[in-house]
Amino acid sequence: MSTDNTTDASTETESKCGASEARSASESASGTAASEAETDTASKCGASSASSSTETTPDTGDDSASKCGASSSSSSSSSSSSSCGASSSSESDEEEVGSTVDDFDAEPGRLIAVGLGPGQPEGMTARARSALLDAEHIVGYTTYVELLPDEITDGADDIYNTPMCGEVSRTEEAIDRALAGNDVAIIGSGDPNVYALAGLALEIIESKGATATMLDFDVVPGVPAAQSCAARVGAPLVNDTVSISLSDHLTDMPTIESRLHAAAKEGFTITIYNPWSRKRRDNYEKCCEILLEHRDPETPVGVVHAAGREDEQVEIVELGELPELGETDLVDMTTTLLVGNEDTYVWDDRMVTPRGYETKYDY
Ligand SMILES: C[S@@+](CC[C@H](N)C(=O)[O-])C[C@H]1O[C@@H](n2cnc3c(N)ncnc32)[C@H](O)[C@@H]1O
Repeated sequence: MSTDNTTDASTETESKCGASEARSASESASGTAASEAETDTASKCGASSASSSTETTPDTGDDSASKCGASSSSSSSSSSSSSCGASSSSESDEEEVGSTVDDFDAEPGRLIAVGLGPGQPEGMTARARSALLDAEHIVGYTTYVELLPDEITDGADDIYNTPMCGEVSRTEEAIDRALAGNDVAIIGSGDPNVYALAGLALEIIESKGATATMLDFDVVPGVPAAQSCAARVGAPLVNDTVSISLSDHLTDMPTIESRLHAAAKEGFTITIYNPWSRKRRDNYEKCCEILLEHRDPETPVGVVHAAGREDEQVEIVELGELPELGETDLVDMTTTLLVGNEDTYVWDDRMVTPRGYETKYDY
């Protein structure tokens, strides 16, 4: 196995993709620093490999190169290069897809998008574990790669990890490796269908002139944060529910606000993803304001930080307390909020959202 080993050392944690994923360099997720800075990309297997500004052990091995017929690896600080006629991406907001299906001669391998669940190995489904044990190459965001159990990382031929952002180049890397004949898994937390890379993978496969069938593309579900976090506070989401992300990187704020109004006034329970970052303080404040416009300040809210990871914190608070939590360690980019509706109550330290059984049955 070879591992592209990137080091997280930035003290400034605002990311290039408009998101701030962590409060400080010392803040960690499951023992891994969540603050990361991308500076450059270089490819060794038909795509780009990223390194941070303080990369200490750049992988110059050619394990993966030999697997896809690629030849060289580069770690120049300002460019990305491809070894199998594949992608070249610059790590900016404007990531571009490089290679097309015609650039590859090999019989295509396989691509699966695998959801890891919340973080700890026992939170992963048996199917996800088995799919990752079978994968030759594993591609993912550094923090998620570090969450993988040793039996999986030790068994892979090559692991390609990049710091946060770079989703397009990372996904293209996975696709190029598969087009070059490798069996590849691209991983992410929770489920690949929830604010994650399953859709982007299909979009890029299409843009390359390839097909999902050609790559035997498959999605292996994982437990989404909404569900793993809900489980930690009881039964908050039992009835009709929606999820809304406060990240305005890919969805503009007026749309997010409109969705918050719609969900809040219709009585859905609401899971809030990506609730707070340094650059998005205003989004969080606006969200609290909108929720309080439609819901009682005493409405229970489950606040779950880093579910399944070393720094997990769980609290049940009242909606009226939410604004002041924005500036605490409890609420950041590894937190999920579970906002109750008008029927939700707290009993014995658990949130309960009745589904309506009590209206039909005596118990
Ligand atoms: C880009 S979304 C990815 C969601 C993921 N695909 C899923 O299915 O849960 C990232 C957001 O998911 C939530 N999240 C992911 N992992 C979490 C965890 N372990 N504990 C709490 N929230 C988490 C946070 O709201 C975070 O900002």
